[in-house]
Amino acid sequence: MTETDISVLVTGPTRGLGRALVGTLGVPGPRLVLAGRPGVGDVAAATGGRAVPLDLADLGSVRSGAASVVDAVAAGALPPLGAVVANAGLQVTDRRRRSADGHELTFAVNVLAQHQLLRSLEPALAPGAHLVLLGSGTHWGGRRSMGLVAAPRWEDPLDLARADLGADAGTRVAGQRAYATSKLAIVLLAHAWQRRHPELRVNVYDPGLMPGTGLARDMSAARRWAWRRVLPVLRVLPGVTTPAASARHLADFALGRVHADLRGGYVELGRVTRSSPASHDRAAEDRLWEVAEQLTAPGGTRRPRVGVDRSPTS
Ligand SMILES: NC(=O)c1ccc[n+]([C@@H]2O[C@H](COP(=O)([O-])OP(=O)(O)OC[C@H]3O[C@@H](n4cnc5c(N)ncnc54)[C@H](OP(=O)(O)O)[C@@H]3O)[C@@H](O)[C@H]2O)c1
Repeated sequence: MTETDISVLVTGPTRGLGRALVGTLGVPGPRLVLAGRPGVGDVAAATGGRAVPLDLADLGSVRSGAASVVDAVAAGALPPLGAVVANAGLQVTDRRRRSADGHELTFAVNVLAQHQLLRSLEPALAPGAHLVLLGSGTHWGGRRSMGLVAAPRWEDPLDLARADLGADAGTRVAGQRAYATSKLAIVLLAHAWQRRHPELRVNVYDPGLMPGTGLARDMSAARRWAWRRVLPVLRVLPGVTTPAASARHLADFALGRVHADLRGGYVELGRVTRSSPASHDRAAEDRLWEVAEQLTAPGGTRRPRVGVDRSPTS
Protein backbone atom coordinates (compact mmCIF):
# COMPACT_ATOMS: atom_id res chain seq x y z
CA MET A 1 0.00 0.00 0.00
CA THR A 2 1.56 3.32 -1.01
CA GLU A 3 0.73 6.90 -0.12
CA THR A 4 -1.28 7.22 -3.33
CA ASP A 5 -3.62 4.28 -2.56
CA ILE A 6 -4.88 5.51 0.77
CA SER A 7 -6.97 8.17 2.43
CA VAL A 8 -5.93 10.07 5.52
CA LEU A 9 -8.30 11.19 8.25
CA VAL A 10 -7.43 14.14 10.49
CA THR A 11 -9.55 15.24 13.43
CA GLY A 12 -9.53 18.86 14.57
CA PRO A 13 -8.35 20.41 11.30
CA THR A 14 -9.92 23.79 12.05
CA ARG A 15 -7.11 25.37 14.02
CA GLY A 16 -3.73 24.95 15.70
CA LEU A 17 -1.76 21.83 14.84
CA GLY A 18 -4.55 20.18 12.85
CA ARG A 19 -4.97 23.19 10.56
CA ALA A 20 -1.22 23.34 9.95
CA LEU A 21 -1.13 19.59 9.31
CA VAL A 22 -3.77 19.74 6.60
CA GLY A 23 -1.64 22.26 4.72
CA THR A 24 1.48 20.14 5.15
CA LEU A 25 0.35 16.55 4.47
CA GLY A 26 0.33 16.93 0.70
CA VAL A 27 -2.61 14.51 0.44
CA PRO A 28 -4.98 15.54 -2.39
CA GLY A 29 -8.47 16.66 -1.38
CA PRO A 30 -10.35 13.56 -2.58
CA ARG A 31 -8.26 11.41 -0.23
CA LEU A 32 -8.35 13.76 2.73
CA VAL A 33 -11.02 13.30 5.41
CA LEU A 34 -11.52 16.22 7.77
CA ALA A 35 -13.43 15.33 10.90
CA GLY A 36 -14.64 17.76 13.49
CA ARG A 37 -17.14 20.39 14.48
CA PRO A 38 -18.91 22.64 11.94
CA GLY A 39 -15.79 24.64 10.98
CA VAL A 40 -14.53 21.56 9.09
CA GLY A 41 -16.85 22.57 6.26
CA ASP A 42 -14.75 25.68 5.62
CA VAL A 43 -11.49 23.73 5.71
CA ALA A 44 -12.96 21.15 3.35
CA ALA A 45 -14.06 23.91 0.98
CA ALA A 46 -10.55 25.37 1.02
CA THR A 47 -8.74 22.05 0.51
CA GLY A 48 -11.17 19.93 -1.49
CA GLY A 49 -11.25 17.45 1.41
CA ARG A 50 -14.29 15.51 2.63
CA ALA A 51 -15.91 17.11 5.66
CA VAL A 52 -17.13 14.68 8.31
CA PRO A 53 -19.04 16.53 11.00
CA LEU A 54 -18.58 15.05 14.44
CA ASP A 55 -18.40 16.31 17.98
CA LEU A 56 -16.00 14.40 20.21
CA ALA A 57 -18.01 15.47 23.22
CA ASP A 58 -20.86 13.25 22.00
CA LEU A 59 -20.13 9.57 21.40
CA GLY A 60 -23.23 9.15 19.22
CA SER A 61 -21.96 11.91 16.96
CA VAL A 62 -18.54 10.21 16.75
CA ARG A 63 -20.20 6.92 15.81
CA SER A 64 -22.32 8.45 13.08
CA GLY A 65 -19.45 10.55 11.67
CA ALA A 66 -17.23 7.47 11.54
CA ALA A 67 -20.05 5.42 10.01
CA SER A 68 -20.22 7.85 7.09
CA VAL A 69 -16.52 7.23 6.44
CA VAL A 70 -16.99 3.46 6.65
CA ASP A 71 -19.89 3.69 4.20
CA ALA A 72 -17.85 5.79 1.76
CA VAL A 73 -14.99 3.27 1.84
CA ALA A 74 -17.39 0.34 1.46
CA ALA A 75 -19.00 2.05 -1.54
CA GLY A 76 -15.62 2.62 -3.18
CA ALA A 77 -16.08 6.39 -2.98
CA LEU A 78 -13.03 6.74 -0.75
CA PRO A 79 -9.84 4.66 -0.58
CA PRO A 80 -9.34 2.88 2.77
CA LEU A 81 -7.74 4.92 5.53
CA GLY A 82 -3.98 4.40 5.61
CA ALA A 83 -3.52 6.90 8.40
CA VAL A 84 -5.74 8.37 11.10
CA VAL A 85 -4.40 11.36 12.96
CA ALA A 86 -6.54 11.71 16.08
CA ASN A 87 -5.36 15.24 16.71
CA ALA A 88 -8.40 17.01 18.18
CA GLY A 89 -8.35 17.57 21.90
CA LEU A 90 -9.10 20.14 24.54
CA GLN A 91 -8.13 21.53 27.90
CA VAL A 92 -10.69 23.10 30.21
CA THR A 93 -10.37 25.04 33.41
CA ASP A 94 -11.97 22.62 35.85
CA ARG A 95 -13.22 19.03 35.94
CA ARG A 96 -16.89 19.65 36.52
CA ARG A 97 -18.03 19.80 32.93
CA ARG A 98 -19.71 16.85 31.27
CA SER A 99 -19.96 15.48 27.78
CA ALA A 100 -23.29 14.68 26.15
CA ASP A 101 -22.91 11.19 27.60
CA GLY A 102 -22.38 12.52 31.13
CA HIS A 103 -18.65 11.86 31.36
CA GLU A 104 -16.06 14.36 32.58
CA LEU A 105 -15.44 16.49 29.50
CA THR A 106 -11.63 16.26 29.25
CA PHE A 107 -11.58 12.48 29.67
CA ALA A 108 -14.57 12.17 27.36
CA VAL A 109 -13.04 14.15 24.49
CA ASN A 110 -9.35 13.32 24.90
CA VAL A 111 -9.74 9.62 25.69
CA LEU A 112 -13.18 8.01 25.31
CA ALA A 113 -14.02 9.71 22.03
CA GLN A 114 -10.61 8.76 20.60
CA HIS A 115 -11.29 5.14 21.45
CA GLN A 116 -14.78 5.34 20.01
CA LEU A 117 -13.49 6.91 16.81
CA LEU A 118 -10.88 4.23 16.22
CA ARG A 119 -13.29 1.42 17.09
CA SER A 120 -15.91 2.81 14.72
CA LEU A 121 -13.41 3.35 11.91
CA GLU A 122 -11.98 -0.17 12.04
CA PRO A 123 -13.89 -1.42 8.96
CA ALA A 124 -12.51 1.52 6.95
CA LEU A 125 -8.84 0.93 7.78
CA ALA A 126 -6.35 -0.15 5.14
CA PRO A 127 -4.12 -3.13 5.96
CA GLY A 128 -1.29 -1.94 8.22
CA ALA A 129 -2.93 1.45 8.77
CA HIS A 130 -1.11 3.93 11.00
CA LEU A 131 -3.13 5.29 13.94
CA VAL A 132 -1.55 8.35 15.51
CA LEU A 133 -2.83 9.56 18.87
CA LEU A 134 -1.85 12.94 20.26
CA GLY A 135 0.28 12.95 23.38
CA SER A 136 1.81 15.69 25.45
CA GLY A 137 4.81 16.18 27.71
CA THR A 138 2.29 16.96 30.42
CA HIS A 139 1.76 13.21 30.83
CA TRP A 140 5.10 13.15 32.66
CA GLY A 141 4.22 15.94 35.06
CA GLY A 142 6.83 18.13 36.76
CA ARG A 143 9.70 19.51 34.73
CA ARG A 144 8.46 17.95 31.48
CA SER A 145 5.31 20.11 31.74
CA MET A 146 7.52 23.18 32.13
CA GLY A 147 5.53 23.90 35.27
CA LEU A 148 2.57 25.01 33.17
CA VAL A 149 0.17 22.19 34.01
CA ALA A 150 -0.45 20.18 37.18
CA ALA A 151 0.95 16.64 37.19
CA PRO A 152 -1.26 13.72 36.12
CA ARG A 153 -2.90 11.61 38.81
CA TRP A 154 -3.91 8.13 37.75
CA GLU A 155 -7.17 6.84 39.17
CA ASP A 156 -9.42 4.04 38.14
CA PRO A 157 -10.69 5.11 34.69
CA LEU A 158 -14.30 4.94 35.87
CA ASP A 159 -13.35 7.64 38.35
CA LEU A 160 -11.48 9.63 35.72
CA ALA A 161 -14.73 9.64 33.75
CA ARG A 162 -16.61 11.21 36.66
CA ALA A 163 -17.06 14.95 36.54
CA ASP A 164 -18.06 15.31 40.14
CA LEU A 165 -15.16 13.61 41.84
CA GLY A 166 -12.93 15.39 44.38
CA ALA A 167 -13.48 18.42 46.57
CA ASP A 168 -11.27 20.45 44.24
CA ALA A 169 -13.16 19.53 41.03
CA GLY A 170 -14.04 23.19 40.46
CA THR A 171 -10.46 24.41 40.53
CA ARG A 172 -8.03 25.24 37.74
CA VAL A 173 -5.58 22.68 39.12
CA ALA A 174 -8.19 19.93 38.78
CA GLY A 175 -8.75 20.94 35.16
CA GLN A 176 -5.02 20.89 34.44
CA ARG A 177 -4.64 17.55 36.18
CA ALA A 178 -7.49 16.14 34.13
CA TYR A 179 -5.70 17.25 30.96
CA ALA A 180 -2.32 15.79 31.96
CA THR A 181 -4.01 12.57 33.07
CA SER A 182 -5.91 12.33 29.79
CA LYS A 183 -2.59 12.51 27.97
CA LEU A 184 -1.18 9.76 30.19
CA ALA A 185 -4.31 7.77 29.35
CA ILE A 186 -3.79 8.27 25.64
CA VAL A 187 -0.34 6.68 25.81
CA LEU A 188 -1.75 3.74 27.77
CA LEU A 189 -4.58 3.49 25.25
CA ALA A 190 -2.15 3.45 22.33
CA HIS A 191 -0.25 0.59 23.97
CA ALA A 192 -3.52 -1.26 24.54
CA TRP A 193 -4.54 -0.78 20.90
CA GLN A 194 -1.17 -1.91 19.60
CA ARG A 195 -1.23 -5.03 21.76
CA ARG A 196 -4.69 -5.96 20.52
CA HIS A 197 -4.04 -5.00 16.90
CA PRO A 198 -0.56 -6.15 15.92
CA GLU A 199 -1.59 -5.85 12.26
CA LEU A 200 -1.83 -2.05 12.65
CA ARG A 201 0.68 0.58 13.71
CA VAL A 202 -0.47 2.57 16.72
CA ASN A 203 1.77 5.36 17.96
CA VAL A 204 1.67 8.55 19.97
CA TYR A 205 2.92 11.86 18.62
CA ASP A 206 3.91 14.54 21.10
CA PRO A 207 3.88 17.84 19.20
CA GLY A 208 5.96 19.76 21.75
CA LEU A 209 4.75 22.94 23.40
CA MET A 210 3.04 25.15 20.79
CA PRO A 211 2.11 28.42 22.52
CA GLY A 212 -0.55 30.47 20.79
CA THR A 213 -2.87 27.67 19.63
CA GLY A 214 -6.54 27.47 20.57
CA LEU A 215 -5.79 25.01 23.36
CA ALA A 216 -5.81 27.85 25.91
CA ARG A 217 -9.13 29.27 24.83
CA ASP A 218 -10.94 28.23 27.99
CA MET A 219 -8.39 29.90 30.29
CA SER A 220 -8.69 33.29 31.97
CA ALA A 221 -8.03 36.36 29.83
CA ALA A 222 -4.67 36.90 31.55
CA ARG A 223 -3.55 33.33 30.92
CA ARG A 224 -4.70 33.47 27.30
CA TRP A 225 -2.75 36.66 26.82
CA ALA A 226 0.39 35.05 28.27
CA TRP A 227 -0.15 31.95 26.08
CA ARG A 228 -0.35 34.10 22.96
CA ARG A 229 2.06 36.91 23.75
CA VAL A 230 4.59 35.75 26.33
CA LEU A 231 5.10 32.00 25.99
CA PRO A 232 6.10 32.17 22.31
CA VAL A 233 9.46 33.62 23.48
CA LEU A 234 10.18 30.13 24.87
CA ARG A 235 10.52 28.86 21.30
CA VAL A 236 14.28 29.22 21.69
CA LEU A 237 14.08 26.21 24.06
CA PRO A 238 14.09 22.60 22.86
CA GLY A 239 10.60 21.11 22.78
CA VAL A 240 8.91 24.48 22.24
CA THR A 241 7.78 25.06 18.70
CA THR A 242 5.11 26.31 16.31
CA PRO A 243 2.15 24.38 14.88
CA ALA A 244 3.68 24.69 11.41
CA ALA A 245 7.03 23.19 12.45
CA SER A 246 5.42 20.43 14.50
CA ALA A 247 2.98 19.63 11.69
CA ARG A 248 5.86 18.94 9.31
CA HIS A 249 7.19 16.25 11.65
CA LEU A 250 3.68 14.90 12.19
CA ALA A 251 2.96 14.68 8.46
CA ASP A 252 6.15 12.70 7.78
CA PHE A 253 5.47 10.43 10.75
CA ALA A 254 1.79 9.82 10.01
CA LEU A 255 2.50 8.95 6.38
CA GLY A 256 5.36 6.60 7.28
CA ARG A 257 8.07 8.68 5.62
CA VAL A 258 9.97 8.42 8.93
CA HIS A 259 9.90 5.80 11.70
CA ALA A 260 7.93 3.51 9.39
CA ASP A 261 8.51 0.42 11.55
CA LEU A 262 7.58 1.98 14.88
CA ARG A 263 4.76 0.20 16.75
CA GLY A 264 3.41 1.25 20.13
CA GLY A 265 5.99 4.03 20.17
CA TYR A 266 6.23 7.64 21.23
CA VAL A 267 7.61 10.36 18.96
CA GLU A 268 8.29 13.84 20.28
CA LEU A 269 8.53 16.24 17.38
CA GLY A 270 10.74 14.22 15.00
CA ARG A 271 12.44 12.05 17.60
CA VAL A 272 11.54 8.59 18.86
CA THR A 273 11.71 8.68 22.64
CA ARG A 274 10.30 6.85 25.63
CA SER A 275 7.08 7.84 27.33
CA SER A 276 6.84 8.03 31.13
CA PRO A 277 7.18 4.91 33.33
CA ALA A 278 3.53 5.34 34.37
CA SER A 279 2.50 4.88 30.74
CA HIS A 280 4.03 1.40 30.71
CA ASP A 281 1.81 -0.01 33.46
CA ARG A 282 0.19 -3.08 31.93
CA ALA A 283 -2.54 -3.32 34.59
CA ALA A 284 -3.51 0.33 34.05
CA GLU A 285 -3.49 -0.23 30.30
CA ASP A 286 -5.79 -3.27 30.49
CA ARG A 287 -8.15 -1.57 32.91
CA LEU A 288 -8.34 1.50 30.68
CA TRP A 289 -9.20 -0.67 27.68
CA GLU A 290 -11.90 -2.43 29.69
CA VAL A 291 -13.48 0.83 30.85
CA ALA A 292 -13.17 2.47 27.43
CA GLU A 293 -14.97 -0.51 25.90
CA GLN A 294 -17.64 -0.34 28.58
CA LEU A 295 -18.29 3.40 28.35
CA THR A 296 -18.24 3.57 24.56
CA ALA A 297 -20.56 0.61 23.98
CA PRO A 298 -23.84 1.98 22.60
CA GLY A 299 -25.93 2.59 25.71
CA GLY A 300 -22.67 2.05 27.64
CA THR A 301 -23.10 2.07 31.37
CA ARG A 302 -20.96 2.94 34.31
CA ARG A 303 -20.98 -0.60 35.61
CA PRO A 304 -19.06 -0.53 38.92
CA ARG A 305 -16.10 -2.69 39.72
CA VAL A 306 -17.20 -5.68 41.74
CA GLY A 307 -17.98 -4.61 45.29
CA VAL A 308 -17.46 -0.92 44.62
CA ASP A 309 -20.27 1.54 44.14
CA ARG A 310 -19.21 3.88 41.35
CA SER A 311 -22.62 5.07 40.31
CA PRO A 312 -22.73 8.77 39.50
CA THR A 313 -24.11 10.93 42.28
CA SER A 314 -25.81 13.40 40.01
N1 LIG B 1 -0.69 23.40 22.02
C1 LIG B 1 0.19 22.68 22.70
O1 LIG B 1 1.15 23.20 23.26
C2 LIG B 1 0.05 21.19 22.77
C3 LIG B 1 1.04 20.47 23.44
C4 LIG B 1 0.95 19.08 23.52
C5 LIG B 1 -0.14 18.45 22.93
N2 LIG B 1 -1.09 19.16 22.29
C6 LIG B 1 -2.20 18.41 21.68
O2 LIG B 1 -2.23 18.71 20.29
C7 LIG B 1 -3.58 18.57 19.81
C8 LIG B 1 -3.97 19.82 19.05
O3 LIG B 1 -3.91 20.91 19.96
P1 LIG B 1 -3.85 22.42 19.48
O4 LIG B 1 -2.87 23.07 20.38
O5 LIG B 1 -3.71 22.51 18.02
O6 LIG B 1 -5.30 22.90 19.95
P2 LIG B 1 -6.40 23.83 19.23
O7 LIG B 1 -5.76 24.94 18.48
O8 LIG B 1 -7.37 24.16 20.30
O9 LIG B 1 -7.09 22.84 18.19
C9 LIG B 1 -7.86 21.77 18.69
C10 LIG B 1 -8.69 21.17 17.59
O10 LIG B 1 -9.52 20.16 18.22
C11 LIG B 1 -10.87 20.41 17.87
N3 LIG B 1 -11.80 20.03 18.92
C12 LIG B 1 -11.84 20.42 20.22
N4 LIG B 1 -12.91 19.91 20.84
C13 LIG B 1 -13.57 19.17 19.93
C14 LIG B 1 -14.77 18.41 19.95
N5 LIG B 1 -15.52 18.31 21.03
N6 LIG B 1 -15.14 17.78 18.81
C15 LIG B 1 -14.42 17.88 17.67
N7 LIG B 1 -13.29 18.60 17.58
C16 LIG B 1 -12.87 19.24 18.70
C17 LIG B 1 -10.95 21.91 17.65
O11 LIG B 1 -12.09 22.18 16.85
P3 LIG B 1 -12.93 23.56 16.99
O12 LIG B 1 -12.25 24.54 16.07
O13 LIG B 1 -14.29 23.18 16.53
O14 LIG B 1 -12.89 23.98 18.41
C18 LIG B 1 -9.63 22.17 16.94
O15 LIG B 1 -9.74 21.87 15.56
C19 LIG B 1 -4.45 18.31 21.05
O16 LIG B 1 -4.68 16.93 21.17
C20 LIG B 1 -3.58 18.80 22.20
O17 LIG B 1 -3.89 18.18 23.41
C21 LIG B 1 -1.03 20.51 22.19
